[in-house]
Amino acid sequence: MDRYAVVGNPVAHSKSPLIHAAFAAATGQALSYGRLLAPLDGFAAAVAGFAAAGGKGLNVTVPFKLEAFALAREQTARAQVAGACNTLAWRGDHWYGDNTDGAGLLRDLLHNVGATIAGGDVLILGAGGAARGIIVPLLAQAPRRLVVANRTQARAAQLAADFASDGPVAAIEPAALAGERFDVVINATSIGLGAAVPRELWPAGMFAPGALAYDLVYANDTTRFLRWAHEQGVTRTADGLGMLIEQAAESFALWRGVRPDTAPVFALLRA
Ligand code: ATR
Repeated sequence: MDRYAVVGNPVAHSKSPLIHAAFAAATGQALSYGRLLAPLDGFAAAVAGFAAAGGKGLNVTVPFKLEAFALAREQTARAQVAGACNTLAWRGDHWYGDNTDGAGLLRDLLHNVGATIAGGDVLILGAGGAARGIIVPLLAQAPRRLVVANRTQARAAQLAADFASDGPVAAIEPAALAGERFDVVINATSIGLGAAVPRELWPAGMFAPGALAYDLVYANDTTRFLRWAHEQGVTRTADGLGMLIEQAAESFALWRGVRPDTAPVFALLRA
């Protein structure tokens, strides 16, 4: 049976084994999908060991996406744009690297959530690896403008500069968000779960009427960012579970040549 796994550190909490088992069952593919915990300084060795033992493909999660890109001898164009790989496929004597995060985000936003990016004002909060990976896919949807705001302004400015030739992207100080209105606000910071968002982090009132608040992080109940959005009267919200499942479906399609139906898996995991 063909072997796959998610490699990361930590990796025990990953929902990927559940998702891929559901895809395999639904598409009649015989495969196994496990978890591979790599030491922080031992990613390449762990991955080499997996291939030597017959492993066919890996999903790569925190903190190894940049190392996975460096390790892949062949990379897709979208992986090169992101400078990171979340998917590796073993090609007999080398790793082929892809990045399905951007496609997963777009598929979830446009297809599942029903958001419109084209012509809209879109805000990304955060300027780390997660933000970097979604800028080009979002710009490809032709928003009116894409704004990046980050606690550390220099990182937002760097991102905007890096992607200036891809579309209308600009950096803004978080404090300057007061008075701005966005149709789609995407949280790409790692503030995650837990206590309320501190008042001083972002000014209130950045959501246009009917705006969508979208968090790249997911949670069983709700995330800090989405709670903060709800408190401001935002009613259209989505967390990152849909993106997680859609990026997995893209990886599965790369490995197996069939695209699984994601809706039943979303319902299963949400339940
Ligand atoms: P990832 O790969 O998840 O994007 P990262 O590259 O470490 O991880 O980036 C984390 C992002 O979350 C950054 O934008 C970070 O802001 P800084 O660049 O100012 O560090 C943001 N972030 C993390 N904790 C935060 C907090 N408590 N308040 C505001 N922003 C935070």
